[in-house]
Amino acid sequence: MSQPEMSRMHEDRLVIHNLVKRDPLADFAEDVRRGLAANPKYLFPKYLYDELGSQLFEAICLLPEYYLTRAENEILSRYAGEIVGAIAMPNTLIEMGSGSASKTRLIIETLLRDQSELLFVPVDISASALERSSRILLQSYPRLWIEAFAAEYFDGLAELAKKQRGRTLALFLGSNISNFEPEEARAFLRAMRSVLRAGDALLLGADLKKDKHILEAAYNDTLGVTAAFSRNLLVRINRALDADFDLPAFRHRAVFNETASRIEICVESLQPQKVAIRKLDMEVELGEGELIHTENSYKYDLAGIAALASQTGFVCGRTWLDSQNRFSSNLLLAEG
Ligand code: AVJ
Repeated sequence: MSQPEMSRMHEDRLVIHNLVKRDPLADFAEDVRRGLAANPKYLFPKYLYDELGSQLFEAICLLPEYYLTRAENEILSRYAGEIVGAIAMPNTLIEMGSGSASKTRLIIETLLRDQSELLFVPVDISASALERSSRILLQSYPRLWIEAFAAEYFDGLAELAKKQRGRTLALFLGSNISNFEPEEARAFLRAMRSVLRAGDALLLGADLKKDKHILEAAYNDTLGVTAAFSRNLLVRINRALDADFDLPAFRHRAVFNETASRIEICVESLQPQKVAIRKLDMEVELGEGELIHTENSYKYDLAGIAALASQTGFVCGRTWLDSQNRFSSNLLLAEG
């Protein structure tokens, strides 16, 4: 079957709302200008996910060192029945940061076993990822309906809060919460809570604090895919803002900060250098060893997750772990 025929076939079950900013380049330019003028220098992790960056992240999920995806998959494969059984028959499934939505299939299949139809509401910053994943899901599940939102997290949640839905299970998987600073994580969960009603629930996937060497290996893979993922942000700036970052003059660094319980990811300038960013009319000076911070990846413990839940209008229900206790899937119940 040809591609256009296939997409037409499922059109009646798919709506995609695009809430992505009207001028994304202006926001990117402004954020890059600010971040590279700051001391210390930084860039926001959301900008890692351009077309190539999203594909590189998919590749990271397949790396032997990056256990997170496999651990969460193990949990969802094993316990999807228990997870779904812990709340009363949701007819709506929301997912924040759905990406390729491959893990979501395990939950969708379990829900469709017990009910005739399901509304899936994915929210993702990438309209192309939403389009791709939605068409594949609709093809697999004839009883699934999709209302998708291309939006940043908080914009998407604000939009979702405007409409009442049926009994809802929300998903925030893949330890996507780990890029949030603690106060952002609380703001996110509060916004999530305001979309839900008493009796609804959020399944929160969170990577757990563990041995420094295991954590650092996951973010410093020997193949160099994570390094490519980080440095691709410089490639993106070169392309979008007509800059001349010399890629061989930068390396990727990821170090576990035990006290803050987070992996700190940076690109490091290997020599003193000047970088022109022509569209910003800006020249950035970097010293040898100077860092541009791109990501924090927070590692949680179960007490921290329970605290987060109780501070944001949830009660921490059951938690499921993988067989090596590396990753947690936590069902947070929306309180009355
Ligand atoms: C998508 C935020 C969960 O922190 O593990 C992976 C991003 N960065 N390798 C993570 C990431 C480098 C990832 N999250």
